Amino acid sequence: MKLQNIRKEYNFSTLSRKSMPINPFEKFQEWLKAAIGQTVNEPTAMAVSTIGPDGFPDSRIVLLKHFDDERFTFFTNYESSKGIALAGCEKTALLFFWPELERQIRIKGIASKCSSEFSDNYFNTRPLESRIAVLASNQSHEIPSRAYLESEFERIKRELGSKNPARPNNWGGYHVKPNHFEFWQGRSNRLHDRFEYRFSAEGWILSRLAP
Ligand SMILES: Cc1cc2nc3c(=O)[nH]c(=O)nc-3n(C[C@H](O)[C@H](O)[C@H](O)COP(=O)(O)O)c2cc1C
Repeated sequence: MKLQNIRKEYNFSTLSRKSMPINPFEKFQEWLKAAIGQTVNEPTAMAVSTIGPDGFPDSRIVLLKHFDDERFTFFTNYESSKGIALAGCEKTALLFFWPELERQIRIKGIASKCSSEFSDNYFNTRPLESRIAVLASNQSHEIPSRAYLESEFERIKRELGSKNPARPNNWGGYHVKPNHFEFWQGRSNRLHDRFEYRFSAEGWILSRLAP
């Protein structure tokens, strides 16, 4: 496999200072809309990076389930590896990559748990099987086999009967409140466009960065 021969020129779009709004959330919304409109595979998938108790950064993909003018929200198990990492260090990075649009967005911010009400509201919109899966999976902990996982799922399903599962306390959402954004648009000859937003007392400060 000659990986050095895999080369792609990027010329889907461009990014100029005048196209960057004062509020980076507006740009995020514009790009997410474009990703959804362009039928990008999993447009809401993002890498969440955390710093674990061992001091190492770690990343994994989760789905963005909500955002507004202040924060991004995803849902997970609070006792998972990422939950343990976030309990010790709330500094978080989010990363979106939409290859079909030749775009990347990097975000840094502070994570905090959602209110129980917020988590309940989302949990109750999930299909029944997904809610049961939350109860059956002690996320990030070792299990003896695939068969064990499936038997747990069936056992919980049987025990619930026609009852609706309640959200367990160890599962819910995190809001990430950003203080930094970077928008990256691939360009030809590797002369890509990059704009960063940094939050300051005066509001968002916009800078163009060398690629
Ligand atoms: C496309 C995709 C979407 C995913 N969405 C979620 C999600 O929304 N929440 C979640 O906890 N895990 C999600 N996962 C699984 C995580 O990547 C990861 O395996 C899991 O959360 C355990 O991570 P941890 O051990 O670092 O805590 C998703 C994985 C992929 C590939």
